[in-house]
Amino acid sequence: MADDTKPETPAPKIVPQTGEATVAAAASPRAPAAGATASAPATGANPAATPHATTTPAARPPAAPRPPAAPIPDLAGKTTNAASAGGAAARVAPAPAVKAATRDADDTSPLLNRRAWMGLAWGAFSAASAAALAATGRFMFPNVLNEPPQQFKAGFPNEYGMGVDERWKEKFGVWLVRTPEDIEQHASGFYSLSVTCTHLGCTPNYLSAENKFKCPCHGSGFRTTGVNFEGPAPRPLERTRIVLAEDGQILVDKSRHFQRELGQWTDPEAFLKA
Ligand code: FES
Repeated sequence: MADDTKPETPAPKIVPQTGEATVAAAASPRAPAAGATASAPATGANPAATPHATTTPAARPPAAPRPPAAPIPDLAGKTTNAASAGGAAARVAPAPAVKAATRDADDTSPLLNRRAWMGLAWGAFSAASAAALAATGRFMFPNVLNEPPQQFKAGFPNEYGMGVDERWKEKFGVWLVRTPEDIEQHASGFYSLSVTCTHLGCTPNYLSAENKFKCPCHGSGFRTTGVNFEGPAPRPLERTRIVLAEDGQILVDKSRHFQRELGQWTDPEAFLKA
């Protein structure tokens, strides 16, 4: 026989509520507002979305706690989880860095921006400065011109016969000529002739068979005295200073020249009497 005196378990009381209460309950399901726990869902609302607001604890078992998220090491070596900033960065692939715009607001250059032009100008300035510095450094070390000495001793007079001697032509650029009668000094002795053609500077050759100097460049001819007589050479060959050194040797000094057209062949040092 059934016990009619046992009190019945009261059914959950459903109380109509406004939409605002339902939204508040859905936003904070674990901490419902005081008035929302006894409220029923509004018409058309999903009861599952507001469990605490629509059912009693006895009607639905509490949800099982979620397992903690697995730790994710970030790039700095720290251990973090997916919810932290480091974890999110580890889960999301880094987007390619977008180059920040370097053009200033007032920069209207059509090809390059202002910074590029400045870099170009500085590069050109640096290159020009380096070139100027290199040229200055090169100027400090001029080319060395190895010229033969201007003076040399040509030996003793008795070592020479009459006529043209070519032993000093290559090394010192002169012919030493011994003559019994000079056309200007009117005496026997020596004179030194420069081997430079008075036309354009070539070096004539001594032709012993013709007893003359002949320039290979344009055909000028010179007597053994140095006087020009054919070709385009405008004047005689030049003589150089020639004296007797203290030791009795012939001293030739190329630093001083004598020109016949200037009357200089009569100078005492233009001829060595012997
Ligand atoms: S350079 Fe000697 S003739 Fe012209």
